[in-house]
Amino acid sequence: MSCLLAIESSCDETAVAIICREEGRPRLLTSLISSQIEIHREYGGVVPEVACRNHALRIRPLVQQALDDASLSLEEIDAFAATRGPGLASSLLVGFSYAKGLSAATGKPFYGINHMEGHLLSPFLEPGKVASHLGLIVSGGHTLLIDVQGFGNYKLMGHTIDDAAGEAFDKVGRMLNLPYPGGPEIEKHAREGNPRAFHFPRPRLKNAPLDFSFSGLKTAVLYQLQKLENPHSQLADLCASFQAAVIDSLVKKTILAALEADRQMITLSGGVACNKALQLALGAAAKEAGMTLSLTPPALTTDNAGMIAFAGLLSSENRDADSLTIGIDPNLSLTA
Ligand code: KG4
Ligand code: ZN
Repeated sequence: MSCLLAIESSCDETAVAIICREEGRPRLLTSLISSQIEIHREYGGVVPEVACRNHALRIRPLVQQALDDASLSLEEIDAFAATRGPGLASSLLVGFSYAKGLSAATGKPFYGINHMEGHLLSPFLEPGKVASHLGLIVSGGHTLLIDVQGFGNYKLMGHTIDDAAGEAFDKVGRMLNLPYPGGPEIEKHAREGNPRAFHFPRPRLKNAPLDFSFSGLKTAVLYQLQKLENPHSQLADLCASFQAAVIDSLVKKTILAALEADRQMITLSGGVACNKALQLALGAAAKEAGMTLSLTPPALTTDNAGMIAFAGLLSSENRDADSLTIGIDPNLSLTA
């Protein structure tokens, strides 16, 4: 059995996980998340200075709790991993430095992991092996279509040219005076609303049919709000119509990308992948196109260290360890 401890601290969740390969299969022994959402809600978004201070306070006891949960001592960990980027520099630094410190103290290898690779591979933790597929990653900072040949072999098919899908949910949530983060709140209200009540734009980008744009949609919601006498009375319809526009764009371009890449399997990952309406719409469109949709398990969908642990385990089995002189990279790309 070989075990790896991973730390995720790219934004406002401090997270620690331990994964072991047992009889050839990856097994997640523990995956702990210490969320700061309640703290940042007061400010309507993540405050980097506050996030970094809370990571620093929480990281040591959380690592100890993960070891206790897994009934392992630090000496029984064979490798360490941490999110290297993309993310907030001051947040990344806490988890990354802590994991490098553990690696230096124990003499065990260290792996810096791309946060987006963590999301991308999260649907494969349970099956244990990464299949070739077309991945849609929708998070607070990124909207990516990636053609995946196998572990480590990624080709960018499309991305957002302005706001990320999660960012659009959060910004529209703020316009509607909903608590942070806006995504789950909008989904909740959308359930009671009519998705055809308002027609919001589904931008088509000339010469870049697989790229996304959500900033025009955000502005369209703002103009609509200014026209309404009592927007609050139409909150559910506004949420449902906005959500339908986001989902339409995501689904159409994902199917187009899968056809172009000639992939039969689609995966959905990142925080916005929690959205049930998106899961249903993408599942139906995939079925109609003769493809399958593989979802991320709920516990691995929003930021967590389990996904970093899985990507770390595969890294430890497929590439050299990183030097401890390696630094964080807040703009780290998956497909450079
Ligand atoms: O992957 P994630 O936890 O963090 C980043 O790497 O950014 O994604 C967070 C994003 C936020 O924008 C949040 O509003 C969105 O995921 N989100 C949702 C839902 N749950 C979380 N968006 C739409 N519907 C949801 N149910
Ligand atoms: Zn994320």
